[in-house]
Amino acid sequence: MELIVVVGFLKRRNNPAMTIPAELVQRLATAKSVTVLTGAGVSAESGVPTFRDAQTGLWAKYSPEELATPRAFRRNPRLVWEWYEWRRNLVAGAKPNPAHLALVEMQNLFLRFHLITQNVDGLHQRAGSRHVIELHGNITRTICFEEGTIVSTWKDTGDVPPKCPACGGLLRPDVVWFEEPMPEEEMQEAMTASTHCDFFFSVGTSTVVYPAAALPSEALRSGATVVEINPQPTPLTPQAHYALAGAAGVVLPELVMALKASRLA
Ligand code: OAD
Repeated sequence: MELIVVVGFLKRRNNPAMTIPAELVQRLATAKSVTVLTGAGVSAESGVPTFRDAQTGLWAKYSPEELATPRAFRRNPRLVWEWYEWRRNLVAGAKPNPAHLALVEMQNLFLRFHLITQNVDGLHQRAGSRHVIELHGNITRTICFEEGTIVSTWKDTGDVPPKCPACGGLLRPDVVWFEEPMPEEEMQEAMTASTHCDFFFSVGTSTVVYPAAALPSEALRSGATVVEINPQPTPLTPQAHYALAGAAGVVLPELVMALKASRLA
């Protein structure tokens, strides 16, 4: 399975006022198994630009699909390394936001809780989420382009990108690029978590990059209640049982508060 983007038609619809529907809270309060899929929107409030908004300043003239491919790396490894270095620095200076923290609280409220992320920034883990299923790798790790092995230290020889100390190959970030295979174990785990849950949340993702974008549909097909949290409509919006049109950093803490209140009542 490869990473591909399908940009579909986005249907606008009247989104509900940003109060969590009481019926949703009531049903969620009795759920045993909850799975959450997150995307770049969850880190937006930490100051990490979403993938498709990331092209500002120096990088405005490149499209992400042009930079995040093995072909782009072969063509111009320095350019791709420098782009990721810019993103790595952004991430290093970012802090988890209320959306990440609310998801940490959620993991303690359900018998079974799975967090799947397309984000490569590690902010869920820094917030305190346990066992995050990373579908697209992690920008803070580096691997050898030739051998795929994780490389933690290398000599600064001034080469950009730096070279693998073992084989002399070029180093690259440990992320999944377009046209590359998905990590099998993570994908399998994500699929199982999506098809065996009572509630499935799709948060801050445009649901256009496959195969991750198929997970909400798999959850729907398996009978889960699907909730989307995103200020903008996506291809998932018309199919979701609930579409909460707001920022993840506002909606998720509200949801957790309502859930705790309903359990106490
Ligand atoms: P996108 O950049 O495609 O979409 C971000 C989504 O977040 C959009 O739908 C926004 O409306 C929404 N959004 C923005 N601010 C938000 C907020 N405060 N709260 C909630 N939602 C908000 O990012 P992804 O869907 O994550 O892969 O993209 C998927 C993958 O595409 C990325 O993981 C990346 C790229 O290929 C890799 O880098 C390997």
